[in-house]
Amino acid sequence: MKPMTTQRVLTGITPSGTPHLGNYAAAIRPAVEASQRPGVESFYFLSDYHALIKTGNPQQVQRATLEIAATWLAAGLRPERVWFYRQSDIPEITELAWLLACVTGKGLLNRAHAYKAAVDKNIAESEEPDAGVTMGLFMYPVLMAADILMFNAHKVPVGRDQVQHLEMARDIAASFNHRYGGEHFVLPEAAVDESVATLPGLDGRKMSKSYDNIIPLFAPPDTLKKLVSGIITDSKAPGEPKETEGSALFQLFQAFATPAETEAMRIRFAEGISWGETKEALFHKLESVIAPMRARYEELIDEPARIEQVLKSGAAALRTKYAAPFIARLREAAGLRPLDRLPAASTNSPDKAKTQTRPQFKQYREADGLFYFKLVDGEGRLLLLSRGFTSAREAGQAVAGLKKGEDYKQWGEPAPGASDTSVRQAIDALHAD
Ligand code: TRP
Repeated sequence: MKPMTTQRVLTGITPSGTPHLGNYAAAIRPAVEASQRPGVESFYFLSDYHALIKTGNPQQVQRATLEIAATWLAAGLRPERVWFYRQSDIPEITELAWLLACVTGKGLLNRAHAYKAAVDKNIAESEEPDAGVTMGLFMYPVLMAADILMFNAHKVPVGRDQVQHLEMARDIAASFNHRYGGEHFVLPEAAVDESVATLPGLDGRKMSKSYDNIIPLFAPPDTLKKLVSGIITDSKAPGEPKETEGSALFQLFQAFATPAETEAMRIRFAEGISWGETKEALFHKLESVIAPMRARYEELIDEPARIEQVLKSGAAALRTKYAAPFIARLREAAGLRPLDRLPAASTNSPDKAKTQTRPQFKQYREADGLFYFKLVDGEGRLLLLSRGFTSAREAGQAVAGLKKGEDYKQWGEPAPGASDTSVRQAIDALHAD
């Protein structure tokens, strides 16, 4: 049974690379904990379409997908309590990505950090600005918006580097809502957990694949031991008091120990514990947390068919419950409709259809105290926005002028997404009678 709730929390995990201790502490552990809280409907998925942007190696995509799925399950994610699925098992997501691409300004995507970084690097290296940039990379934020909007997620736990993508998802959702008149999409929010510590790697810098300083989460015990003994320290001798501040060993210990164990270790630092003993203690701490998960992980990895089954059944249930009916409504909204059926509004009676499909001018006053008018088409889509007028009378006169055939350009501009032609056609339709 899925929990009955309103708050939907969704996050994607790109299957690339081997999960490491930093991933576990910053993403996997908090997500698994959050998924156990009542009152939340959680969506965790493997963003394998996104992985194709980073690698062209099919074996690597498949292997990473298996490893990451097994890692999340071994870490305690319960597929019977959360939605756990693979992005590419839900074709509605790519379909939605196209619908969204058609309301996304290219300029918005030009500003995406990842794309800009690629361009800046090319320029610095005297290459063509877009050298090596695929449309996959460029469209990354649109696909990510589709992941989120497909399930109308409210909250999206992400790292700080993904906040801009969430802002873009909101912009894209608002554009779609605006163009197709209606609350099709909830505007999602990023949830950045500031309290999540980023763990140091072997060299003391942030643990990251790109620094080549990671400790794989499920390294075999002897490898784990070797890696821990290679973690950087200062050169203080045994017996000398040691700083916890800035000590990679201490930070790693803290991330896996209870508060009481951490305090005990702090005291041992002050008392001059040797680095050798510290490493020993850290290894045992890590091993005590990781060993049971590693055992589950190894069992899972040996049964890829079981994982495949878990992912497939998650996707199938989600498609039936959300994705398929929702994409049908969105297609309908965008005009991808059966040709033998008139729009819902006009099926009642021919008279009603006529009044409802006519464009309309609407006057209103804004918070700035000025008077405005707008032109909407028969389905409520915004076509024209006026400039501000100091009185309602002036605004009314401008509308009257337009109905007599005056050029609209002197009073306003087409709304975002509306064309000059659609504005002119709507005004023509009004003064034709
Ligand atoms: N871009 C995210 C990352 O690299 C992964 C991701 C893909 C994602 N789609 C998402 C995260 C949707 C949150 C919501 O970390």
